[in-house]
Amino acid sequence: MPDELRFLENKRKPQRTTDASLAGKRCVVTGATSGVGMAAAERLAAAGADLVLVCRDRAKAERVRAEILAGRGRGADIGIVAADFSDLETVRNAAAELLASCPRIDIIVNSAGMHSTTRRLTTAGHELVFCVNHLAPFLLTSLLLERIKASAPSRIVMVNSEGHRFGGLDLDDLDWSRRHYTGLRSYGASKIAQLLVLPEFAQRLAGSGATINAMHPGDVRSNIGQNNGFLYRAFKTVVIDRFLKDPAISGEAIYWLAAAPEAEGVSGKYFYLTIEEKPAAHAVDGALGKRVWELSRSLVGLA
Ligand SMILES: NC(=O)c1ccc[n+]([C@@H]2O[C@H](COP(=O)([O-])OP(=O)(O)OC[C@H]3O[C@@H](n4cnc5c(N)ncnc54)[C@H](OP(=O)(O)O)[C@@H]3O)[C@@H](O)[C@H]2O)c1
Repeated sequence: MPDELRFLENKRKPQRTTDASLAGKRCVVTGATSGVGMAAAERLAAAGADLVLVCRDRAKAERVRAEILAGRGRGADIGIVAADFSDLETVRNAAAELLASCPRIDIIVNSAGMHSTTRRLTTAGHELVFCVNHLAPFLLTSLLLERIKASAPSRIVMVNSEGHRFGGLDLDDLDWSRRHYTGLRSYGASKIAQLLVLPEFAQRLAGSGATINAMHPGDVRSNIGQNNGFLYRAFKTVVIDRFLKDPAISGEAIYWLAAAPEAEGVSGKYFYLTIEEKPAAHAVDGALGKRVWELSRSLVGLA
């Protein structure tokens, strides 16, 4: 089977599991108000972790906190930090708040993400999906990198997607002003960019005891796409969702990547849930990765 199709096989393989304790560990989870991020937050808390939920909607985050505390995360210390990933200034403020309130950060799960069928720009002029899915987690991770190194052994999990195989990244047209916009390809572009900077992050963490990996969280029922029009939402709810799985499998896989002793020291890799997989060739180009790294730093104001 060609590497490009290996995901078809990997989705059927039995997944790895762990029962490693996360007692005393502080985990920052973005996108924790729904779907994959919420399942990850619940699973990490069930393993004994303390959390900080990074969310744009505080009321929603408070409901999730109450649910976790009433369920398997009883006794966890769960903070909430606000950030809207379409506004990088709020991401910067969130990072400052996290650095001030968390002397240690043992795990970061970057799960916040979206899919849009129409081209939209943020107030700063970035294409919305690229900003939410790539630039914002890139900025947050960059700003927390020294703290995560100082907290080693520590781990970062980037929730990526098989959608990176759709292609779509054009560094000369990141805002899609010159090309016909499609939701699948703009989503693909954001996930490719995230995979291309993965080795750059891994290189900066090398030798510190901190690691970073990316993963596809399975094909699971969530609220992704609910920001789109009626027809899209109806099709997703009535047709697509019937074939999707419970996001608990994503939470279990993220917990494995964040906690399993077998994953210790593994860095810069891409996983289908817990199975290591080769990303598409366009997402592992080292020279392009260096350009995306520099461009991303410049776009988020870190250059
Ligand atoms: N579901 C799948 O099968 C699947 C497959 C491949 C990859 N993924 C990836 O999994 C991740 C989570 O997606 P999901 O499926 O769990 O979707 P979801 O249920 O819609 O969850 C997305 C999360 O991201 C947050 N978010 C969206 N826009 C944001 C913004 N501007 N600022 C801050 N937070 C924002 C949402 O907050 P609100 O609750 O406030 O909306 C929510 O917590 C994404 O990165 C997605 O690409 C999912």
